This record gives sequence, structure tokens and C-alpha cells, in this order.
Amino acid sequence: MAKLSGSKKATQFTESVIREMTRLNQLYGGVNLSQGFPDFPAPAAVKDAACAAIAADINQYAVTWGARPLREAVAREFTRRYGLEVIADEQVTVCCGSTEAMMSTMLAIIDPGDEVIVFEPFYENYGPDAILSGATPRYVTLHEPAWTFDPDELAAAFNEKTKAIIINTPNNPTGKVFSREELEAIAVLCRKWDAIAISDEIYEHIIYDGHRHIPIATIEGMADRTVTINGLSKTYSVTGWRVGWTISPGTLTGAIRKVHDFLTVGAAAPLQEAGAAALDLPETYYAKLAADYQRRRDVLLEILERHHFTCYKPFGAYYIMTDIGAFGFADDVEFARYLVRDVGVAAVPGSSFYKTSAEGRTKLRFCFCKRDETLSEADRRLEKLVAVGARLG
Ligand SMILES: Cc1ncc(COP(=O)(O)O)c(C=O)c1O
Repeated sequence: MAKLSGSKKATQFTESVIREMTRLNQLYGGVNLSQGFPDFPAPAAVKDAACAAIAADINQYAVTWGARPLREAVAREFTRRYGLEVIADEQVTVCCGSTEAMMSTMLAIIDPGDEVIVFEPFYENYGPDAILSGATPRYVTLHEPAWTFDPDELAAAFNEKTKAIIINTPNNPTGKVFSREELEAIAVLCRKWDAIAISDEIYEHIIYDGHRHIPIATIEGMADRTVTINGLSKTYSVTGWRVGWTISPGTLTGAIRKVHDFLTVGAAAPLQEAGAAALDLPETYYAKLAADYQRRRDVLLEILERHHFTCYKPFGAYYIMTDIGAFGFADDVEFARYLVRDVGVAAVPGSSFYKTSAEGRTKLRFCFCKRDETLSEADRRLEKLVAVGARLG
């Protein structure tokens, strides 16, 4: 009977707290500001392209590493935007979302005993990604309030076992945008220790207040040692389509493609066609996307501050990290459960972004990829929280 249980790997991590919050939200009929998916429509041109692809019978397996039009669009856009040549045939692999792109990359490059550096707080998938691929994660703190790393702490995390460092800019959950100086400091260490940078840039276009996104692949000496990960989910509001990709140096592409092939064979063929159309959208689309999100950020910041949350203002991505110290709850999970059950607003407990849950105990993350009506409904419901909070003192 002992064999009728999960593997050692599977017992080392828990169910996703973010997706659990979404389920609790459905149970209690709340306003979901937990899981990061938009509740507004995707661009019509992108949806039309998907329908046209299905009608044109692009309904069988695409080439395992991705349909040519999408791979070429990914390569073309990266080169055009950042001035670094990317060759679609040698460097781009289309996966089932950037989630699979990250997992395929880790499985393709990690050997037992390898260490992977992860900044903390982190997007919760990176922990299980490390465990499943057999890597030993080493965490480096992003210090509040600006979420900066201490260069000495980062340097101390590198050693001869370091295979890779995971970077996520713009960052979930903090909203931090890594500066050129910070990326250069990381690059120096990657070159010194012969390590790979795995850069999750899924929020590339969701960036505010004049900040600019810099891919670490464009920093000197990094093109040959960076795997850039991105996808359609956030930029085109199609998180359910599951289309993402890697841009890797030619030396790593073969390994990533093999792992990807045996994990999933490939991403949905018609949606890859639509992805090529999406990447063709004009520059005005991206400017409006960022401006609309900046406005939503300001709306939610104002709501949360009025309801006594202490907010860390984000400069990219679509989340606000908050401090909940003012509400007098024992911890973040208890508060998050109370919030969804009794107030009707779902958010994510801070501890899901930390290795040691105590560090996220006073934090809660809200997302603002939502319609104005959704945000004002959350505002209305949070009135109740103020009353309870005041009673608790
Ligand atoms: C940092 C980060 N990476 C990856 C993902 C997942 O992206 P995809 O839908 O492409 O798998 C998310 C989704 O929330 C994210 O926040």
C-alpha cells in the first residue's frame, strides 16, 4: 500500500495557493483579485485570427518546437525592439505557456546537485520548478521597500555548483523593474561562475511611470548564456490559451526542444497562428495596454490605501503587494481566508511568495487586471473590512 502515494518530489510542495484562492472565491461568490487573469476581452483582431485559423483547418499538430509564423514573429519583434539578433530556427521554441517554457528549460539544463538562484519574494511556480527538475534552490532577498538586492548577498549565493539564476522583470509579486545596473551586476556574476540566466519577461509590456524593460540577454556577454521566457498570456489578455516560448542560445535549444516535445508535443496550433497576428499589432496597442494598466494601478492603490492597507507601489506587472499589519490578524493565510469568506474579496497570502512562510506573514497581494466595475465592487465590499478592522483595533 505504501506505493499508493505520491512521489517524494510531489510531497515537497503544496497545491498552488493562488489557484486555491480562486476556487474559494468561486465558492463564496467573491471579487477575485487573487489569480492574475484579466476579466476584460482580448483584442478582437487576435480572437478573429484564432477563429480564422480553426476555420482554415489549422487543427493538427504544429511542428513540435512551434509554428514558423509565430517563431519568426517572436524573433523579429525581439530583434526590432532590443537590437539583438534572434534566429527563429535556432533559438525560438514555442511551449504551452511560459509555465511550460520555464519547466522545459529547467528540466533541459539541470543535473542533480545543481543550484539555482531565485530572488525572494518569488512567483510561486519557481519553487516546484526547482524541485521537479532536481535543482537545489538558493534564495536571495529582494529587500523592501524598493525590493533591491544586496550585491554582497547575491555574490555570496553564487558558487561552482550554480547552474542558473531565475530573474523575473517586471516582477511578480513586487512590481519591481530591474534596472540596467542591477542586471549588469547579475551578468558579472553569471559570467564569473559560468551560470545561465533564465529570464521570465512575461510582463515585458506592462510597465509604468517611464520605466523601461531591459532584457538581460542584451547585457554584454549575456546573449550566449540567457534563456528568455515570454508568452501571449499577459500582453494579449489570453491566459487560457497557453502559448509561450523560449529564446535560447543555440547551444541550449536542442535540449529544451527535446524536453518540450516529450512533455507536451506542442502548443495549440490555431492559437499559435493567432499569436503571430498578435505580435503584428501596432505600437499603439502596447502604449494603450501600459497606459490602461497604469490607470488601473492608480485606482486600486487609492482603494487599498483608503481601506488601511500599506501599499508597495508597483512599476510594472499588474499586482500590488500590501502590508496587512494594521488589521491585527495572526497571519496572512487567516486574513486571506477571512477576506474571501466574510468580506468577499480574494487576494493571495504573502507567504506563498516566500520559502519561509513567516516572512510573508504580514503581506497580501492583490491584482488589478480587472474592469473598473470589478475594482469598484471590491471597493464597496472592502467597506466592511474597515468596520471589522476598526473593531479589532
Ligand atoms: C511571473 C510569471 N511567470 C509566468 C506566469 C504564467 O504565464 P503563462 O500563462 O504564460 O504560463 C505568470 C502568471 O501569473 C507569472 O506571473
